[in-house]
Amino acid sequence: MPYPTSKSLIKRLKRPVTAITAYDYPAARICDETGVGLILVGDSLGMVVAGNEDTTSVTLDHMVYHTEMVRRGVHRAVLVSDLPYATYETPEMALNSSLRLMEAGADAVKLEGGFGQISKLERLREAGIAVCAHIGMLPQRVKKEGGYKKKGKSEEEASNLIRAAIALEQAGAIAIVLESVVAEVAAKITDSVEIPTIGIGSGSECGGQIRVIHDVIGGYPWFVPPFATVHGDVARVMQQSVGKFIKEVSLTTEKQ
Ligand code: KIV
Repeated sequence: MPYPTSKSLIKRLKRPVTAITAYDYPAARICDETGVGLILVGDSLGMVVAGNEDTTSVTLDHMVYHTEMVRRGVHRAVLVSDLPYATYETPEMALNSSLRLMEAGADAVKLEGGFGQISKLERLREAGIAVCAHIGMLPQRVKKEGGYKKKGKSEEEASNLIRAAIALEQAGAIAIVLESVVAEVAAKITDSVEIPTIGIGSGSECGGQIRVIHDVIGGYPWFVPPFATVHGDVARVMQQSVGKFIKEVSLTTEKQ
């Protein structure tokens, strides 16, 4: 089967783009049935599912496994899978890694970075694989950068981000995630491209927003990013349910 074309995916990304991460079948199915527009199998799973400090230990095999689970739950939303750390160093590597994610059921892949990734986008476009770009704060570079920092504070950084977004669009990106970009710069980027920008920690003037599902449902109480609005308390519901189960077993089990 041919992969979904970039053109068809851009058409399906209705604005404002509502995008959320999912890593398994039930979460993917619930998000899809609730009407979210884009579901990302994010390499953030290395943190919120696997409990690591950052995303850099996530492998391509992990992403393939989770993409397969999510695919079974998604019938309406655009399904994007992250190319994990160090799996797209060259255009050929990007192609081979992306082919595995596409075979696992992704509609498109996402990669982090600006000008340095143009040749990879071009190679993927040649192969008919749609790509979502990701600029601003790049979690896969957190170790090199020594922390999560806001991007676009200086004029030079802002202008680089705007130029990178234009170059990524020209290279065929279907959308651009803007992570931790100064809000006014994110607004300028949004005005400079036709494809949707999808913000996270980048203000409200983007073509849509993306969040890690745990930050939306209250599923990771130990850390909540400052920009996230938590809309649920899943951790508490789990705690209460498990507490009730413990009580039930102690009340109903015959003494040994
Ligand atoms: O991996 C992820 O969840 C992401 C989003 C934060 C955009 O890349």
